Amino acid sequence: MSVGNSVKASSPLEFDPFSEEFFAGAYATFRRLRDEQPVYYNAKWDFWALSRYEDVAPATKDHETFSSAKGATLDVVKAHDDAIPPPKVIISMDPPEHQKMRKLVSSVFTPRAIASLEEMVREKIYERLDAIDPAAFDVVADFSALFPNEVITTMLGVPKEDRHQIRVWLDLLLERNPGEIAVPREGFEASVNTGIYYYKLIQQRRERPEDDMISRLIETEVERDGHVDKLTDVDIAGFATLLGGAGAETVTKLIGNAMVAFADFPDQWQSLRRDRSKIPAAIEELLRYEAPSQYQVRTATRDVTLHGVTIPKGSAVLLLTASATRDERMFPDPDRLDIDRERKMGFNLAFGYGVHSCLGAALARMESRIALNALLDLLPEYQVDRTGLKRVAMSNVAGYSNVPVRRAS
Ligand code: HEM
Repeated sequence: MSVGNSVKASSPLEFDPFSEEFFAGAYATFRRLRDEQPVYYNAKWDFWALSRYEDVAPATKDHETFSSAKGATLDVVKAHDDAIPPPKVIISMDPPEHQKMRKLVSSVFTPRAIASLEEMVREKIYERLDAIDPAAFDVVADFSALFPNEVITTMLGVPKEDRHQIRVWLDLLLERNPGEIAVPREGFEASVNTGIYYYKLIQQRRERPEDDMISRLIETEVERDGHVDKLTDVDIAGFATLLGGAGAETVTKLIGNAMVAFADFPDQWQSLRRDRSKIPAAIEELLRYEAPSQYQVRTATRDVTLHGVTIPKGSAVLLLTASATRDERMFPDPDRLDIDRERKMGFNLAFGYGVHSCLGAALARMESRIALNALLDLLPEYQVDRTGLKRVAMSNVAGYSNVPVRRAS
């Protein structure tokens, strides 16, 4: 059903991740890329893009050829050579540096640590739903834009009164002006302010530790080759800032995208209502169908030749995971949301693949499971007010800022 924008096959093929067309939904462009230029070059922004599953999946796993070290967003990669590099965060590290960091931060994401959060997550989700009018509300603005930030900031130990400010900075940090690659000034300031905020919070926790993630990250030690690794304050502030974007905005988009997708395929919503045990499978299918993170940015460490085209060493490469999971060569009838779809390798590309695969996947799945279950109760049947649908213009995350829904009586 939803193939996003309508791009005429005869028009020149352009994929621009900073364009209005991309923000409006790029699935028709993705299809043309897969069919016509599986190794695509964009001269305007000087990057390459891979779009077929058979190319994207192995590239995402091959961190030696496709490096993250210059950054995880195109603006950072492009600015890398002529600017002072930003503080290193896990998502823009290669092994062995990445392995060391991943070991340190994984200690706060163990399956047991995540499972112990379920009650808190449930509380945050129902707190939000209790505050809305179930007959008509905005699934994103009134609900999914709010609870994931509450969850992450609560985990980190941000006091209640500061959590809203963190979310406002987070939106600014990710927003882009269509047609521009650079982070707007407000976004840059928001990123500095978030970093400073966490830096100060870390100082407080060093003096008086509490039962929160920041205190645990301060204490974390990993012994390797006879010496002990610890996280610096800058490491922790960078990680906390990253978690906002990686952990909050993605879940926000997943739930918004889900409610639009289910409105397009109402039989799937009804099927889920009849059998809630299908919720985990539905989440995987939603991630395949419209991934909140549409592409991962890498830098080629050597010349790479695919389909007779050579990507030169040093090039920025966008691995279009959202296109790969709609690849008809891999998934039959890929533009159809089908929660009973056979689950085979490839579904989890939406959480990345290889060394950088999503550290918060278990938490994201838990949040989405509880949220969808609650929405199934609240909206047995519903309509989306399509005139009120609004999509975000953001770097790396895609989806809606507004999804107004009305319960059908
Ligand atoms: C639906 C929700 C989510 C989606 C679709 C998602 C997607 C992704 C993807 C695609 C990557 C790989 C990036 C790359 O290869 O460059 C990633 C990495 C990461 N995600 Fe998630 N994520 C989600 C939720 C979360 C949550 C809830 C958290 C934490 C609270 C989180 C934390 C992270 C971190 C820390 C990384 C970096 C891991 C590394 O570099 O080793 N994510 N995520």
